[in-house]
Amino acid sequence: MTAIHPANPASKPSSPPQPAPSWHGRDLVGLQGLSRAELVSLLTASRDAAHKIEQNALDPVLRGRVVATMFFEDSTRTRSSFTVAAQRAGASVVDLSGGSSSVNKGETLIDTARNIEAMGVDAIIVRARQSGAAQIVAQAVACPIINAGDGRHEHPTQGLLDTLTIASRFGRDSTFDLSGLNVVIVGDIASSRVARSGIAALTSLGAHVTCVGPSSMAPSSLSALGCAVAHELDPLLPTAHAVMMLRIQFERADTDTPTGNKSEQVKKSVIASIREYRRFYALSAERAAKMRQGAIVLHPGPINRGIELDADVADGPRSVIMQQVTNGVAVRAAVLSLLVGGPRP
Ligand code: CP
Repeated sequence: MTAIHPANPASKPSSPPQPAPSWHGRDLVGLQGLSRAELVSLLTASRDAAHKIEQNALDPVLRGRVVATMFFEDSTRTRSSFTVAAQRAGASVVDLSGGSSSVNKGETLIDTARNIEAMGVDAIIVRARQSGAAQIVAQAVACPIINAGDGRHEHPTQGLLDTLTIASRFGRDSTFDLSGLNVVIVGDIASSRVARSGIAALTSLGAHVTCVGPSSMAPSSLSALGCAVAHELDPLLPTAHAVMMLRIQFERADTDTPTGNKSEQVKKSVIASIREYRRFYALSAERAAKMRQGAIVLHPGPINRGIELDADVADGPRSVIMQQVTNGVAVRAAVLSLLVGGPRP
């Protein structure tokens, strides 16, 4: 099976219509390098799945199929969302979580994936701590691999659900042309696979994306991804259509302490103090009031309330955080149906 790689540069919005890309039997390891047509095909299927789920009318195109989830990092949303999506589309789900697998006895991720595949599953959904792990597994097995987040690399279904949420809110979900929309991503971007996938999809579809944070979290090298980089949030708020807040990923910084105490961690971390971080980068109600009318607030979760995002804003009228979660099921149902549905390869 061929893994998806940056072979196809994004086509221009004015390009003549192309045949719909085929996803059958492919992997979804990342959004970086996907063509605009490929992104639009995934998003269009996701939008349609969202409408069908809303009407309780999703076609069970995965009936008789078995999907395995292999999660070697904690997850609340992604794992349960894939499970709900697969089941809504008619598939059975086998769940292998890191804590109960033989990886704990020294088995490699590749051997684990090969064994799961040998049982006859139709697709494997992988979350791993190591950047690039999903690609390595994809090269080792024949069935489709879907990356559910690998280290700091990518989280493609999260990038798709974030893009779908923004596009739907601003009435762009017929063409997915996002030109003219300003998206600001705030916080620990250097550690964020969510940001990498989001930047890939949003910029490819025409949005202007600015990553903002202290230079340790938003280094200028991020501009290679096609986004702008800034270190001050306040000047960006009045023109932003969407502000995506990110959690500080203490677990990915070299900050582990025996106690797991956050204030202890932060001393060794990429920021000097949480209080100082909040002063410049937290989205408080006061800051959110500077946003334009109709602008929205996103967060992929898990939220550290009172650090990057205040409860008033997370639960307030600008927040589309629960819509992101709802859209996640539609995206994953669509992705699974495109990759695994239809005749077996
Ligand atoms: N957004 C996201 O990946 O959440 P989980 O870590 O809970 O899956």
